[in-house]
Amino acid sequence: MTAHSADAMRPRRFLPNGPLRGRVRVPGDKSISHRAIMLTSLAVGESRISGLLEGEDVLATAAAMRAMGAQVERTGSGEWLVHGVGVGALLQPGQALDMGNSGTSTRLLMGLIASHPIQATFVGDGSLSRRPMGRVIEPLSLMGADVTATVGGRLPLILRGASPAVPIRYRLPVASAQVKSAVLLAGLNTPGETTVVEPVPTRDHSERMLRGFGAELNVELEPDGTRVITVRGEAELRPQVIEVPGDPSSAAFFVVAALLVEGSDLTIENVGLNPTRAALFDVLRQMGGSIEEVARRDVGGEPVADLRVRHSPLRGIEVDPGVAPSMIDEFPILFVAAAMAEGRTTTSGLDELRVKESDRLAVMATALAASGARVEEREDGLVIDGTGGERLRGGANHPITTHLDHRIAMSMAVAGLVSRSGIEIDDTRPIATSFPTFEALLDGAAAEGTSA
Ligand code: S3P
Repeated sequence: MTAHSADAMRPRRFLPNGPLRGRVRVPGDKSISHRAIMLTSLAVGESRISGLLEGEDVLATAAAMRAMGAQVERTGSGEWLVHGVGVGALLQPGQALDMGNSGTSTRLLMGLIASHPIQATFVGDGSLSRRPMGRVIEPLSLMGADVTATVGGRLPLILRGASPAVPIRYRLPVASAQVKSAVLLAGLNTPGETTVVEPVPTRDHSERMLRGFGAELNVELEPDGTRVITVRGEAELRPQVIEVPGDPSSAAFFVVAALLVEGSDLTIENVGLNPTRAALFDVLRQMGGSIEEVARRDVGGEPVADLRVRHSPLRGIEVDPGVAPSMIDEFPILFVAAAMAEGRTTTSGLDELRVKESDRLAVMATALAASGARVEEREDGLVIDGTGGERLRGGANHPITTHLDHRIAMSMAVAGLVSRSGIEIDDTRPIATSFPTFEALLDGAAAEGTSA
């Protein structure tokens, strides 16, 4: 069902290698790229996007917006041109929308369609078809959308939008930027004010970008930290010129690799440091990691810097569960760092990891244990006793099963670099969902270190 599922699996053994040196530039932020395509597709006129992540997930969003009437094209120079249709003017797609592996495409597009008088069928790969959609079906149904889903609120599902939709005030029962964004996007074509109450802050790209596109959006902060976000519907979005900053979630693999591999001194350029995304770097610093921000600047309304990362011995810590939403996609790679740290790292409050592209607690516990790490899996987190800098034993005879999860594949690739015998991954193809250049950049940084 995804672009790659027809091909054979592509296993690879990641071997211990020289230090990582030089400079790498990670691709554009996945969350911002999805939103850039969606919002420019709703703005009447021509928008231009540079730095767009050309990963399979974002390409699924682009294909869906085309199927609903927008013109979305890549130019020869790598810039993307989008001619939007206007809020309220999405067309009924002629075929099922294939969301591949992408939860973000699915949940945000469900929001957009929920307040348009059209119907869409959503399908996805084996991983996506196991993920819970009830969390968006519930608020979108309150707004009037009609959803017929597979048992348990899963894909495939059919969504019929409401016209007009009903504005709601919705308190998020889970800390999820996808659910928040689905409701706000539905609110764009809903008369009156749609409000999301967010007790725990999650990534705020939707809010920043909606404002940038000219929507009336207001955020109130309550004394206990709750955010009350209101968007006025029947909005008119203005076309934009967007520069997408580099993805901190992709940078994370190179940051941890450089911290762990002896002799490394690597600069990762153009990393987005929005505080709702960047908690991993603070946690790694608390563990003793040398991560220096160079040339802090603003790119497309987001804070950005280059990160200079030097090999550092790490100490285990107790990770504050309060920071989890600001590094929710970075736990697999943090677990690898913890496996190499001195002493114990304890994580908790991570139930959400069980419903990502895979059950990331179970899958990482199994993968790390199979590679020689000491890991205990708990209901809502992992407890890891690190090696104190000693290399991991490495894989036995069986390759690591990545379960169609790009972040498991990349995390265990990094673990392979600090193993004695290397670690084999069963399939590297899922990496292309978020970071198609990962292997080339990793091989390049290691080659630079070897020749230095
Ligand atoms: C995303 C939000 C997060 C994250 C996902 C992208 C987004 O999911 O895991 O990779 O772009 O809004 P939740 O908000 O469901 O935690």
